[in-house]
Amino acid sequence: MPTPESLTTEPHRDFDLVVAGGTWPSDVSGEVFFSAPAISGRLPYGIFDLGTIARLSLTPGTHGAPPDRFAWRVRAIGNPSRRIFDADPAAFTPGPLGYTSPYGAPNASNTAPLPWGDRLFTTWDAGRPVEIDPRTLEFVAEVGHIDTWGGPSMFGDAVLPFLVSCAHPVADPERAGLWTTKLVPVTTPSFGMCPCVVWWDREGTSVRWWPLEGISFGGSTHTVSQTRDWVVLCDSGNFKVDPAELLGGARTVTVDTDAPVWLVRKDELLALPTGTPVAPRCARVAPPIGHFYARYDDSDGISVVWEGMDLMDLGLYLRADDLDVTGAPVHPASVGLYNMAMAPESILEVQFEPETGRVRERGRFRDAWTFNLQLSAMDWSTEGLSAPTLHHVSYQGCRPGRITRRAAALYEGRIDVGAVSEETPGYLVSFRRPGMEPVCRWEYPDTSELITSPAFVPRAPGTDPDASRYAGPRPGGHDGYVVQPVLSDAGFRVDLFDAGNVGAGPVASLRGAGHERVPLLLHSAWMPTVERLADADRLRFGDELDDARLAGLDDRQRRVVARVAAELDGRG
Ligand SMILES: [Fe+2]
Repeated sequence: MPTPESLTTEPHRDFDLVVAGGTWPSDVSGEVFFSAPAISGRLPYGIFDLGTIARLSLTPGTHGAPPDRFAWRVRAIGNPSRRIFDADPAAFTPGPLGYTSPYGAPNASNTAPLPWGDRLFTTWDAGRPVEIDPRTLEFVAEVGHIDTWGGPSMFGDAVLPFLVSCAHPVADPERAGLWTTKLVPVTTPSFGMCPCVVWWDREGTSVRWWPLEGISFGGSTHTVSQTRDWVVLCDSGNFKVDPAELLGGARTVTVDTDAPVWLVRKDELLALPTGTPVAPRCARVAPPIGHFYARYDDSDGISVVWEGMDLMDLGLYLRADDLDVTGAPVHPASVGLYNMAMAPESILEVQFEPETGRVRERGRFRDAWTFNLQLSAMDWSTEGLSAPTLHHVSYQGCRPGRITRRAAALYEGRIDVGAVSEETPGYLVSFRRPGMEPVCRWEYPDTSELITSPAFVPRAPGTDPDASRYAGPRPGGHDGYVVQPVLSDAGFRVDLFDAGNVGAGPVASLRGAGHERVPLLLHSAWMPTVERLADADRLRFGDELDDARLAGLDDRQRRVVARVAAELDGRG
């Protein structure tokens, strides 16, 4: 097996974990949340399936677990999309980019948890952020009335709007709002998508948006990052829609070798009425990325960790009739998962000069083993973002069984097939900031295991009354723990590392009390335990239901929508 078969065969379910090795420290606390698509098998490409949220409690005996056990709790994202889907599944047609239906396109909200103070959101590249109750995991609200987003990105008004956005919005620690994106089709200066910066004031039910003047591109804006004064957007460059493939043809579109970056001053945006075009400062960086993280302090420049995705094409997924790069048929349990990295990946720290577009490298690391730089962990406290010390990265290793021969043919001339013919270990690595010098690493030599999204947990957060909510006594990423989940057909495991010395190996490990297995997980994030749902003015599903949006539905479908609205809006 190139990756555990449990990724696609195991259902999401609640269970409890026990300490399986080492000693669980007393100064680790809070919850780690995970987002995941619940792989149903209905879609050809599983990453578009409807979302699930999972929560690992780091304090034993909480959330219903016995005193010596740790609760793993899961729930489907119960947003209007999911509820309508469950009420009328036959109306949803599977396609290579997810479901379509007379109700519109469901917001799968399956990619990343986004903790923000005492509130929790989940995100997706093709939908609005969704607020979840961190205690019950119940759906709370979607973010921003669709009219204030300027309507859907495309396919017209519907009960479930199709909104191409961003899986990693970022909360502004000084302005009490969230920066994200929306893409809209344009024909000038060329046919493509224009990115808009979106701002949501967390107290309200409306957003504001500003298109980037003169920008048209064919990719996606997977991440938004920020400094104190700047919003940073870029074309992720590794997910491209191929119209010919959607019509049943062979895929010919490939990922770029570099990516455009757009920088806009926050104050410039917020001074403009919604909908006003704004001209960004432009730069380019290689390789393309999925994730990038700017240092919040920009007093000596805009410094960004750039997690490269060299030859990682997320538009490619495994089909049942595929051969892998070694010539063997792909494993049935890997069908519907993405084609994994076809080269070792680079990590960089770059500094942008917005006035000139110049990009200065402050450090770069790439080695023969740096395959599938998939996910990372950092200190998300305001202090940690302002002066980061360590950046922790999980490399999943080379997995030739999840690189198809079709992909190798498409990338002929760019892929070194000999370099991807053998499985290699996974690694958890800590990089020093600035400069991205690797300071220590821990090897996962058992290639039947797959490490997945790590999370940084500050030591003893909340003890300094003058510090921000998520800060430990020594912020930056070195003082605390790294939670490293390990997917395995032998049973799910959670390794806990001292963030200052991951090379020493786990200080403790948890496993399911019944050796439970866990399916595919995407991003994770840590947040402190909260006691109650935050007060806020929130959008109600029923507020968006007007005659125009219901026009395409028959009487039975309208009754489905009315029932879901009553269910959601009648909750008091
Ligand atoms: Fe992501």
